[in-house]
Amino acid sequence: MYFPEYRPRRFRRTENLRRMIRETVLTVDQLVYPLFVLPGKNIKNPIQSMPDVYQFSVDRLMDEVATVVRLNVPAVLLFGLPQEKDEEGSEAFSDHGAVQKATLAIKEKYPDLVVITDVCLCEYTSHGHCGLLQGEQVDNDATLEVLARVALSHARSGADIVAPSDMMDGRVRAIRQALDENGHDQVGILSYSAKYCSAFYGPFREAADSAPKFGDRRAYQMDMANADEALREIAMDLEEGADMVMVKPALPYLDIIRRAKDRFDWPVAAYNVSGEYSMIKAAAAQGWLDEKRVMMEVLFSIRRAGADLILTYFAKEAAKVLLEN
Ligand code: PBG
Repeated sequence: MYFPEYRPRRFRRTENLRRMIRETVLTVDQLVYPLFVLPGKNIKNPIQSMPDVYQFSVDRLMDEVATVVRLNVPAVLLFGLPQEKDEEGSEAFSDHGAVQKATLAIKEKYPDLVVITDVCLCEYTSHGHCGLLQGEQVDNDATLEVLARVALSHARSGADIVAPSDMMDGRVRAIRQALDENGHDQVGILSYSAKYCSAFYGPFREAADSAPKFGDRRAYQMDMANADEALREIAMDLEEGADMVMVKPALPYLDIIRRAKDRFDWPVAAYNVSGEYSMIKAAAAQGWLDEKRVMMEVLFSIRRAGADLILTYFAKEAAKVLLEN
Protein backbone atom coordinates (compact mmCIF):
# COMPACT_ATOMS: atom_id res chain seq x y z
CA MET A 1 0.00 0.00 0.00
CA TYR A 2 1.27 3.36 -0.95
CA PHE A 3 0.22 6.97 -0.88
CA PRO A 4 -2.44 8.19 -1.39
CA GLU A 5 -4.35 5.02 -0.38
CA TYR A 6 -2.19 4.55 2.68
CA ARG A 7 -1.56 7.59 4.82
CA PRO A 8 0.51 6.68 7.90
CA ARG A 9 -0.37 10.04 9.43
CA ARG A 10 -3.99 8.91 9.92
CA PHE A 11 -3.07 7.04 13.07
CA ARG A 12 -0.76 9.70 14.40
CA ARG A 13 -3.52 12.26 14.66
CA THR A 14 -4.55 11.86 18.32
CA GLU A 15 -3.02 10.33 21.41
CA ASN A 16 -5.61 7.56 21.59
CA LEU A 17 -4.98 6.59 17.98
CA ARG A 18 -1.26 6.59 18.66
CA ARG A 19 -1.80 4.45 21.77
CA MET A 20 -3.73 1.88 19.76
CA ILE A 21 -0.93 1.17 17.30
CA ARG A 22 2.01 1.56 19.69
CA GLU A 23 4.10 -1.56 19.20
CA THR A 24 6.50 -1.48 22.11
CA VAL A 25 5.41 -1.56 25.71
CA LEU A 26 7.54 -0.27 28.56
CA THR A 27 6.33 -0.92 32.08
CA VAL A 28 7.89 -0.65 35.49
CA ASP A 29 7.92 -4.47 35.57
CA GLN A 30 10.89 -4.43 33.22
CA LEU A 31 13.12 -2.15 35.26
CA VAL A 32 15.90 -2.97 37.69
CA TYR A 33 17.50 -0.30 39.86
CA PRO A 34 21.25 -0.56 40.66
CA LEU A 35 22.41 0.47 44.14
CA PHE A 36 25.86 1.00 45.66
CA VAL A 37 26.37 -0.08 49.22
CA LEU A 38 29.37 0.39 51.48
CA PRO A 39 30.37 -0.48 55.08
CA GLY A 40 29.71 1.96 57.91
CA LYS A 41 26.77 3.89 59.28
CA ASN A 42 24.78 6.91 58.24
CA ILE A 43 26.56 7.37 54.91
CA LYS A 44 25.02 8.79 51.78
CA ASN A 45 27.82 9.91 49.44
CA PRO A 46 26.93 11.62 46.20
CA ILE A 47 28.75 10.37 43.11
CA GLN A 48 30.10 13.36 41.20
CA SER A 49 29.76 11.89 37.75
CA MET A 50 26.30 10.37 38.38
CA PRO A 51 23.84 13.02 39.59
CA ASP A 52 21.12 11.64 41.93
CA VAL A 53 23.03 8.38 42.49
CA TYR A 54 24.67 7.73 45.88
CA GLN A 55 26.77 5.27 47.80
CA PHE A 56 24.82 4.20 50.87
CA SER A 57 25.61 2.46 54.12
CA VAL A 58 23.07 -0.28 54.81
CA ASP A 59 21.01 1.84 57.25
CA ARG A 60 20.62 4.72 54.78
CA LEU A 61 20.13 2.32 51.88
CA MET A 62 16.83 1.26 53.40
CA ASP A 63 15.24 4.68 52.71
CA GLU A 64 16.24 4.38 49.09
CA VAL A 65 14.88 0.86 48.92
CA ALA A 66 11.61 2.09 50.42
CA THR A 67 11.33 4.53 47.50
CA VAL A 68 12.05 1.78 45.00
CA VAL A 69 9.34 -0.38 46.57
CA ARG A 70 6.88 2.50 46.65
CA LEU A 71 7.45 3.07 42.93
CA ASN A 72 6.72 -0.62 42.33
CA VAL A 73 10.11 -1.34 40.73
CA PRO A 74 10.38 -5.13 41.12
CA ALA A 75 14.12 -5.54 41.57
CA VAL A 76 17.37 -3.96 42.70
CA LEU A 77 20.93 -4.82 41.70
CA LEU A 78 23.48 -4.48 44.51
CA PHE A 79 27.10 -3.46 44.10
CA GLY A 80 29.36 -3.43 47.14
CA LEU A 81 32.43 -1.59 48.30
CA PRO A 82 34.71 -3.22 50.86
CA GLN A 83 36.22 -1.90 54.09
CA GLU A 84 39.56 -3.02 52.78
CA LYS A 85 40.83 -4.22 49.45
CA ASP A 86 43.39 -6.99 49.02
CA GLU A 87 45.04 -8.93 46.20
CA GLU A 88 42.38 -11.65 46.25
CA GLY A 89 39.36 -9.44 46.84
CA SER A 90 38.49 -11.58 49.85
CA GLU A 91 35.91 -9.20 51.29
CA ALA A 92 33.74 -10.05 48.30
CA PHE A 93 32.85 -13.38 49.92
CA SER A 94 32.75 -12.25 53.53
CA ASP A 95 29.36 -12.96 55.07
CA HIS A 96 29.74 -9.60 56.80
CA GLY A 97 30.36 -7.65 53.59
CA ALA A 98 28.20 -4.69 52.65
CA VAL A 99 26.29 -6.56 49.93
CA GLN A 100 25.62 -9.52 52.21
CA LYS A 101 24.35 -7.26 55.02
CA ALA A 102 22.26 -5.18 52.64
CA THR A 103 20.73 -8.30 51.11
CA LEU A 104 19.77 -9.62 54.55
CA ALA A 105 18.30 -6.29 55.60
CA ILE A 106 16.32 -5.85 52.39
CA LYS A 107 14.94 -9.38 52.35
CA GLU A 108 13.90 -9.06 55.98
CA LYS A 109 11.96 -5.85 55.42
CA TYR A 110 10.82 -6.38 51.82
CA PRO A 111 10.77 -10.13 51.15
CA ASP A 112 9.04 -9.60 47.80
CA LEU A 113 11.60 -7.21 46.36
CA VAL A 114 13.89 -9.17 44.06
CA VAL A 115 17.50 -8.79 45.09
CA ILE A 116 20.10 -9.31 42.39
CA THR A 117 23.73 -9.14 43.44
CA ASP A 118 26.66 -8.29 41.21
CA VAL A 119 29.33 -10.98 41.40
CA CYS A 120 32.74 -9.57 40.55
CA LEU A 121 36.04 -8.85 42.25
CA CYS A 122 37.08 -5.48 40.81
CA GLU A 123 35.55 -3.46 43.67
CA TYR A 124 37.37 -5.68 46.17
CA THR A 125 40.84 -6.19 44.72
CA SER A 126 43.70 -3.80 45.46
CA HIS A 127 44.66 -3.89 41.75
CA GLY A 128 41.10 -3.26 40.55
CA HIS A 129 40.96 -6.20 38.13
CA CYS A 130 37.99 -8.55 38.00
CA GLY A 131 39.92 -11.67 39.01
CA LEU A 132 43.06 -13.05 40.60
CA LEU A 133 46.31 -11.94 39.03
CA GLN A 134 49.08 -14.14 37.69
CA GLY A 135 51.73 -11.54 36.93
CA GLU A 136 49.83 -8.85 35.03
CA GLN A 137 47.21 -11.24 33.65
CA VAL A 138 43.92 -12.25 35.21
CA ASP A 139 44.07 -16.00 35.86
CA ASN A 140 40.77 -17.33 34.55
CA ASP A 141 40.55 -20.75 36.18
CA ALA A 142 41.86 -19.69 39.56
CA THR A 143 39.27 -16.90 39.63
CA LEU A 144 36.34 -19.27 39.10
CA GLU A 145 36.57 -20.72 42.58
CA VAL A 146 36.54 -17.26 44.18
CA LEU A 147 33.55 -16.16 42.11
CA ALA A 148 31.68 -19.27 43.20
CA ARG A 149 32.43 -18.39 46.84
CA VAL A 150 31.14 -14.87 46.28
CA ALA A 151 27.93 -16.10 44.68
CA LEU A 152 27.45 -18.60 47.49
CA SER A 153 27.81 -15.97 50.19
CA HIS A 154 25.25 -13.78 48.37
CA ALA A 155 22.89 -16.75 48.18
CA ARG A 156 23.34 -17.43 51.91
CA SER A 157 22.35 -13.82 52.61
CA GLY A 158 19.14 -14.31 50.66
CA ALA A 159 19.89 -13.06 47.14
CA ASP A 160 17.29 -14.17 44.61
CA ILE A 161 19.59 -13.87 41.62
CA VAL A 162 23.36 -13.59 41.31
CA ALA A 163 24.80 -11.69 38.37
CA PRO A 164 28.41 -12.45 37.43
CA SER A 165 29.98 -9.49 35.60
CA ASP A 166 33.63 -10.56 35.60
CA MET A 167 33.73 -12.15 32.10
CA MET A 168 35.80 -15.18 33.13
CA ASP A 169 35.19 -18.19 30.86
CA GLY A 170 33.23 -20.94 32.57
CA ARG A 171 32.03 -18.92 35.54
CA VAL A 172 28.36 -19.67 35.08
CA ARG A 173 28.95 -23.41 35.41
CA ALA A 174 31.22 -22.92 38.42
CA ILE A 175 28.60 -20.75 40.13
CA ARG A 176 25.68 -23.04 39.25
CA GLN A 177 27.51 -26.03 40.66
CA ALA A 178 28.44 -24.28 43.88
CA LEU A 179 24.88 -23.05 44.38
CA ASP A 180 23.33 -26.45 43.70
CA GLU A 181 25.77 -28.35 45.88
CA ASN A 182 24.90 -26.07 48.77
CA GLY A 183 21.14 -26.19 48.60
CA HIS A 184 20.58 -23.01 46.59
CA ASP A 185 18.99 -24.49 43.52
CA GLN A 186 16.33 -21.76 43.58
CA VAL A 187 18.84 -18.95 43.23
CA GLY A 188 18.95 -17.76 39.64
CA ILE A 189 21.87 -16.62 37.51
CA LEU A 190 21.69 -13.50 35.39
CA SER A 191 24.90 -13.63 33.41
CA TYR A 192 26.53 -10.53 31.99
CA SER A 193 27.17 -12.70 28.94
CA ALA A 194 28.05 -10.12 26.31
CA LYS A 195 29.87 -7.52 28.33
CA TYR A 196 31.97 -5.23 26.20
CA CYS A 197 35.15 -3.46 27.18
CA SER A 198 33.49 -0.05 27.21
CA ALA A 199 34.46 3.51 27.99
CA PHE A 200 30.83 4.01 29.05
CA TYR A 201 31.68 2.39 32.42
CA GLY A 202 33.73 5.45 33.38
CA PRO A 203 31.32 6.99 35.94
CA PHE A 204 30.59 3.59 37.50
CA ARG A 205 34.23 3.18 38.36
CA GLU A 206 33.95 6.30 40.49
CA ALA A 207 30.76 4.96 42.09
CA ALA A 208 32.23 1.52 42.79
CA ASP A 209 35.85 2.62 43.19
CA SER A 210 36.76 -0.15 40.78
CA ALA A 211 39.09 1.33 38.17
CA PRO A 212 42.00 -0.99 37.35
CA LYS A 213 45.24 0.31 38.87
CA PHE A 214 47.19 -0.69 35.75
CA GLY A 215 46.20 -1.66 32.25
CA ASP A 216 42.62 -2.18 31.21
CA ARG A 217 40.03 -4.96 30.87
CA ARG A 218 40.63 -5.78 27.20
CA ALA A 219 41.99 -9.23 28.01
CA TYR A 220 38.67 -10.35 29.47
CA GLN A 221 35.84 -8.06 28.33
CA MET A 222 34.64 -8.18 24.73
CA ASP A 223 36.02 -6.19 21.82
CA MET A 224 33.53 -3.56 20.63
CA ALA A 225 33.90 -4.71 17.02
CA ASN A 226 32.48 -8.18 17.62
CA ALA A 227 28.91 -9.40 17.29
CA ASP A 228 29.03 -13.11 16.40
CA GLU A 229 31.24 -13.62 19.42
CA ALA A 230 28.52 -12.14 21.65
CA LEU A 231 26.12 -14.82 20.46
CA ARG A 232 28.71 -17.50 21.23
CA GLU A 233 29.15 -16.06 24.73
CA ILE A 234 25.40 -16.15 25.27
CA ALA A 235 25.05 -19.70 23.92
CA MET A 236 27.85 -20.80 26.22
CA ASP A 237 26.30 -19.20 29.30
CA LEU A 238 22.91 -20.75 28.60
CA GLU A 239 24.60 -24.11 28.15
CA GLU A 240 26.33 -23.62 31.51
CA GLY A 241 23.06 -22.87 33.27
CA ALA A 242 22.34 -19.14 33.06
CA ASP A 243 18.66 -18.32 33.60
CA MET A 244 18.90 -14.92 31.96
CA VAL A 245 21.58 -13.33 29.84
CA MET A 246 22.64 -9.72 29.50
CA VAL A 247 24.07 -7.40 26.91
CA LYS A 248 26.09 -4.50 28.25
CA PRO A 249 26.24 -1.56 27.58
CA ALA A 250 22.84 -1.12 25.93
CA LEU A 251 22.75 1.86 23.58
CA PRO A 252 25.91 1.25 21.55
CA TYR A 253 25.00 -2.46 21.33
CA LEU A 254 21.30 -2.43 20.40
CA ASP A 255 22.13 -4.66 17.44
CA ILE A 256 23.48 -7.29 19.82
CA ILE A 257 20.32 -7.16 21.93
CA ARG A 258 18.23 -7.70 18.81
CA ARG A 259 20.33 -10.60 17.58
CA ALA A 260 20.32 -12.20 21.02
CA LYS A 261 16.56 -11.94 21.27
CA ASP A 262 16.04 -13.32 17.77
CA ARG A 263 18.39 -16.22 18.33
CA PHE A 264 17.56 -17.38 21.85
CA ASP A 265 14.16 -17.76 23.44
CA TRP A 266 15.47 -16.81 26.87
CA PRO A 267 15.08 -13.61 28.86
CA VAL A 268 17.54 -11.02 27.59
CA ALA A 269 18.47 -8.14 29.87
CA ALA A 270 20.27 -4.98 28.84
CA TYR A 271 22.37 -2.76 31.06
CA ASN A 272 21.87 0.92 30.39
CA VAL A 273 25.22 1.73 31.99
CA SER A 274 26.61 4.64 33.96
CA GLY A 275 28.03 6.56 30.99
CA GLU A 276 24.73 6.32 29.15
CA TYR A 277 23.09 7.82 32.22
CA SER A 278 25.68 10.50 32.92
CA MET A 279 25.80 11.89 29.41
CA ILE A 280 22.07 12.51 29.47
CA LYS A 281 22.25 14.03 32.95
CA ALA A 282 25.12 16.29 31.88
CA ALA A 283 23.41 17.50 28.74
CA ALA A 284 20.14 18.04 30.62
CA ALA A 285 21.94 20.04 33.33
CA GLN A 286 23.15 22.37 30.57
CA GLY A 287 19.64 22.70 29.26
CA TRP A 288 20.72 21.04 26.02
CA LEU A 289 18.35 18.06 26.20
CA ASP A 290 14.94 17.38 27.71
CA GLU A 291 15.93 14.77 30.27
CA LYS A 292 12.60 12.98 30.70
CA ARG A 293 11.92 12.70 27.01
CA VAL A 294 15.43 11.54 26.15
CA MET A 295 15.31 9.01 29.00
CA MET A 296 12.05 7.52 27.75
CA GLU A 297 13.29 7.48 24.17
CA VAL A 298 16.40 5.57 25.23
CA LEU A 299 14.45 3.07 27.34
CA PHE A 300 12.01 2.48 24.49
CA SER A 301 14.89 1.94 22.08
CA ILE A 302 16.30 -0.76 24.35
CA ARG A 303 12.91 -2.45 24.64
CA ARG A 304 12.34 -2.13 20.89
CA ALA A 305 15.69 -3.78 20.26
CA GLY A 306 14.36 -6.78 22.17
CA ALA A 307 15.39 -6.45 25.81
CA ASP A 308 13.02 -8.06 28.29
CA LEU A 309 14.62 -6.30 31.23
CA ILE A 310 16.52 -3.04 31.59
CA LEU A 311 18.98 -2.36 34.36
CA THR A 312 19.08 1.39 34.61
CA TYR A 313 19.94 4.26 36.94
CA PHE A 314 16.82 5.89 35.48
CA ALA A 315 14.55 3.22 36.97
CA LYS A 316 13.05 5.47 39.66
CA GLU A 317 12.53 8.41 37.34
CA ALA A 318 11.10 6.22 34.60
CA ALA A 319 8.77 4.55 37.10
CA LYS A 320 7.49 8.01 38.07
CA VAL A 321 6.82 8.93 34.45
CA LEU A 322 5.08 5.61 33.85
CA LEU A 323 2.92 6.04 36.95
CA GLU A 324 1.91 9.56 35.83
CA ASN A 325 0.78 8.28 32.43
C1 PBG B 1 32.10 -4.79 37.43
C2 PBG B 1 31.06 -4.03 36.73
C3 PBG B 1 31.20 -2.88 35.93
C4 PBG B 1 29.90 -2.47 35.63
C5 PBG B 1 29.04 -3.38 36.20
N1 PBG B 1 29.77 -4.35 36.86
C6 PBG B 1 32.35 -2.08 35.52
C7 PBG B 1 33.49 -2.64 34.83
O1 PBG B 1 33.45 -3.71 34.23
O2 PBG B 1 34.51 -1.98 34.90
C8 PBG B 1 29.54 -1.23 34.86
C9 PBG B 1 28.21 -0.65 35.17
C10 PBG B 1 28.00 0.74 34.72
O3 PBG B 1 28.86 1.36 34.07
O4 PBG B 1 26.93 1.27 35.03
N2 PBG B 1 32.87 -5.63 36.70
